[in-house]
Amino acid sequence: TITERGNYRHFMQKEIHEQPLVVAQTLQSYLKPLAGEVALPIPDFDFSGVKRVQIVACGTSYYAGMVASYWLEQFARIPVEIDFASEFRYREPVLEDGGLALFISQSGETADTLAALRHARAEGQKIAAVVNVPTSSMAREADLLLPTHAGTEIGVASTKAFTCQLAVLAALAANLARVRGKLSAEAEREIVSHLAEAPAAMNAALNHDEAVQAIAPLVAKARDVLYLGRGPDFAMALEGALKLKEISYIHAEGYAAGEMKHGPIALIDEHVPVIVLAPSGPYFEKTVSNMQEVMARGGKVILISDAAGVAAAGDGCLATLELPVVHPLIAPLVYAIPIQLLAYHVAVLKGTDVDQPRNLAKSVTVE
Ligand code: G6P
Repeated sequence: TITERGNYRHFMQKEIHEQPLVVAQTLQSYLKPLAGEVALPIPDFDFSGVKRVQIVACGTSYYAGMVASYWLEQFARIPVEIDFASEFRYREPVLEDGGLALFISQSGETADTLAALRHARAEGQKIAAVVNVPTSSMAREADLLLPTHAGTEIGVASTKAFTCQLAVLAALAANLARVRGKLSAEAEREIVSHLAEAPAAMNAALNHDEAVQAIAPLVAKARDVLYLGRGPDFAMALEGALKLKEISYIHAEGYAAGEMKHGPIALIDEHVPVIVLAPSGPYFEKTVSNMQEVMARGGKVILISDAAGVAAAGDGCLATLELPVVHPLIAPLVYAIPIQLLAYHVAVLKGTDVDQPRNLAKSVTVE
C-alpha cells in the first residue's frame, strides 16, 4: 500500500491533493462547457412534478447537502428540507406528492441513509442519490443516480468525496433551476463557467499547504476550537469542525457567525482559536463584524479569506490565510481545502492515526 500512497504520508493527505483532478473528472460528466449548459447523466429524468426537495445524509455528506440546500433555494427557488438520516424517519416527516428525496452518501451503504431512502420510496417520493460507489445499494435503488467520480476513498474522514458531491449538487441545482424556468441561458452559462474554474482554484488553494502547516501549531495546542461562517460557509464551518474532531480529537464547534453572540461568545478567551471562513462576497461584511465581536473579547482569530478580505479585515488576527479570489458559488469547494489541510496537519502534530481515527468507521452499516 506504500506504492498506492505514492509520496504521501497518509491516504487522507493523498486524497486531499487529488481533489482538483477528481472534481474535474466528476464535472466532466455534468457540464457541457462549450454549450454553457449543465447536463445530468439521465438527461430525460422527469422533474416536472417536483415541488420540494428533502435532503437526507450523515456526517460529511450531510454538510454537502447543507451547502446544496442554499444552492437549490437560491437558483431553483424550490423549498428544501434537510435531515440527518438518523432523525429523518423518526420525526414522521410529511412527504406529499411531488417530493424529490435526495440522498447523499460516499459509500452508498450507510444504514441510516439507506433506511431513509427506503422509507421515502414507500412514501411515494422520487429518489435521487449522489453516491461515490457505483455498485452500492443506494446506487441501485435510486431513480436518479448522480455518481461522483472521486475514486476509492480510503481515509476514514471524507475529503475528496465531499468536494465531488458539491460539484454534482451544484450541477443538480442548476439543472433543476433550468427545468423550473428560473435560470436564463446566460445565467446557466455563468454557473457552468464558474464550476469549470473550480479545479484550478482548488489547485491554487493546495499551494497554500505550507501556510496552513504553519498555522497548525496554533490549533494543535487548543482544547476547543470554534469555526464561524455564514450562508454556505456556515455549512463549511460545521464541516471544518467535524474534520478537526474526527482526526485530531480536539473539541470543535461550527457556528453560524451571527448566532455566536447568542451563546458561544461566552467561551471566547485567548485559549480558544476561532477560525473564520469569510470569502469576499455577499456575506463578507456581516461575517467580519461577527469576527470583530470575537476580537473585542480577546479572542484569537484565524481568518481564511482572499487578498481583498485579508486586506480589509486581517489586522489584529492571530493568523490569516489568503486563498484565491473565487466566485461565491465555488467558494465551498475551494475553502474545503484549507479546512481539510488544517485538520490534517493538526492531527499529524498530535500523532493520531489519521487514516483510521479511533472509534470511527469508514462506512457505518448499523443504525
Ligand atoms: C462515517 C464516515 C464519514 C462519513 C459518514 C457518512 O461516519 O467516517 O466520513 O461522512 O460515515 O458516510 P457516507 O458513506 O454515507 O457518505
